[in-house]
Amino acid sequence: MPDAPRAEIAVIGGSGFYTFLENPTEVAVETPFGAPSEPPLVGEVAGRRVAFIPRHGRDHRFPPHRVNYRANLWALRALGVRQVLGPCAVGSLRADWGPGSLVVPDQVIDRTWGRAHTVYDEPVGVAHVSFADPYCPRGRSVALAAARATGREAKPDGTLVVINGPRFSSRAESRWHAAAGGSIVGMTGVPEASIARELAVCYTSLAVVTDLDAGVDAGDGVTHAEVMETFAKSIEALKAVVAQVISDLPADDECSCRHSLDGLELPFELP
Ligand code: ADE
Repeated sequence: MPDAPRAEIAVIGGSGFYTFLENPTEVAVETPFGAPSEPPLVGEVAGRRVAFIPRHGRDHRFPPHRVNYRANLWALRALGVRQVLGPCAVGSLRADWGPGSLVVPDQVIDRTWGRAHTVYDEPVGVAHVSFADPYCPRGRSVALAAARATGREAKPDGTLVVINGPRFSSRAESRWHAAAGGSIVGMTGVPEASIARELAVCYTSLAVVTDLDAGVDAGDGVTHAEVMETFAKSIEALKAVVAQVISDLPADDECSCRHSLDGLELPFELP
């Protein structure tokens, strides 16, 4: 049997970002956590081997709190992936970051609950990874330069508040998130980023603002249709940025994210 195709970089596409690769090969991967959102697709972008998983499934059947983040990340690592790009739609908690803005966040506030949020969940060992800086420093700087190279100026930092959803925030919650230091709000940033760190995989978030969240918007508040409509307008530009990031990401292993497990006694072997 021929060896399964491998990949070094992955894209986990969010709402409205269901396809990315041309002529991909579908790869069945088993994980200890069950099935990923879809079997990863593997192909080539800018001469790099790239895997793609649509986070919510091809038909958007998994709401944010039901995405199998552990299986997605595990499956990608099993294919050889060590760098993940996570494009996503977000609301803005700042009036000056309007719809269409691209943000490369540098911090996150986790307001989710009840999700399978760690791969270190067995009573056989403990692994506490550092999450002080949740996102890959190299991925972030490559993403900012790549945005510029494709004609977009991305916001160079920002704190992503991740709510559990699937409902949007009330006005009071939205104002509270802003007062807590949040600049954007989404539903999937964790545990995706934190599980990547638990697997010593670099993770970079690329967030597209689709709406002003309820605390900023004086109107009726955000709707699902508004998010999808605005995201659809940004998708081609976002894909161009993602392709440029893939082309520019260093191929070596010299990144702090890859050392997140150094010195820890792991309860099992990673793929
Ligand atoms: N995704 C897109 N817009 C959002 C919002 N306002 N709140 C949470 N997630 C979002």
